[in-house]
Amino acid sequence: MDVFIYGTGGHAAVIYDNIVSSNGYSVVCFVDDNSDKETYLGLPVHKTPEALKLTKTGVIAIGVNHIREKVVQELLAINANINFISAIHANAVVSERAIIKPGVVIMAGAVVNANATIDEHAVINTGAIVEHDCQISSYASIAPGAVLGGNVSIGERSFISMGTQLKQGIQIKNDTVIGMGSIVTSNFEDHVTAYGQPCKVVNNRKKEDSYLA
Ligand SMILES: CC(C)(COP(=O)(O)OP(=O)(O)OC[C@H]1O[C@@H](n2cnc3c(N)ncnc32)[C@H](O)[C@@H]1OP(=O)(O)O)[C@@H](O)C(=O)NCCC(=O)NCCS
Repeated sequence: MDVFIYGTGGHAAVIYDNIVSSNGYSVVCFVDDNSDKETYLGLPVHKTPEALKLTKTGVIAIGVNHIREKVVQELLAINANINFISAIHANAVVSERAIIKPGVVIMAGAVVNANATIDEHAVINTGAIVEHDCQISSYASIAPGAVLGGNVSIGERSFISMGTQLKQGIQIKNDTVIGMGSIVTSNFEDHVTAYGQPCKVVNNRKKEDSYLA
């Protein structure tokens, strides 16, 4: 099946590798409404209207969580019939009893264990471990090497940074950022940045505040 990848940055290149590694999809173009690039990785770069003439199936390769959500909403406003695929690297280990929703991206070396649920457009990055019964909400992102014990829940658009470890059963609400290398032994509410060992709140944040600069 022909698919588009929306985005022309490094995250898009990794998602391209995911798709190439597994059978079933053929990338026909990249999409970027804010770039003058004509090609990326040897494929054409189109604006949304041109891309949708080629295929209405694709994946959003925007790393920043709230921007990925905005792009999905904008595309669906243009065409409500767009079909989002999940892009899972062939070398990710995903339980047959995990639930993977449309638009999800799972990179090489990641493990998603039994009865975990990964909601729409969430990202499980390289080598991250999502243990049994975890709940990862829409547009959340788990960075490389993070480890989530069993029954952890992560809210919408929240970001778990590289190498962070979360004790089993921890709950992180929406739009919260847990900084790299943290040891998380307590729950965190909406709209905070927290880090450290043990992880503590550092400040409040808004949904749009940057965290990948
Ligand atoms: C949490 C985070 C967003 C904070 O970023 P920031 O607000 O720009 O913070 P700064 O880099 O300005 O650092 C401010 C201070 O906090 C410290 N700090 C920042 N993150 C820290 C962390 N995770 N643990 C301990 N200290 C940290 C800095 O050392 C600095 O201390 P100083 O004032 O004594 O020099 C950032 O550290 C982070 O973890 N980003 C995500 C990285 C990641 O996972 N990327 C994935 C790429 S795929």
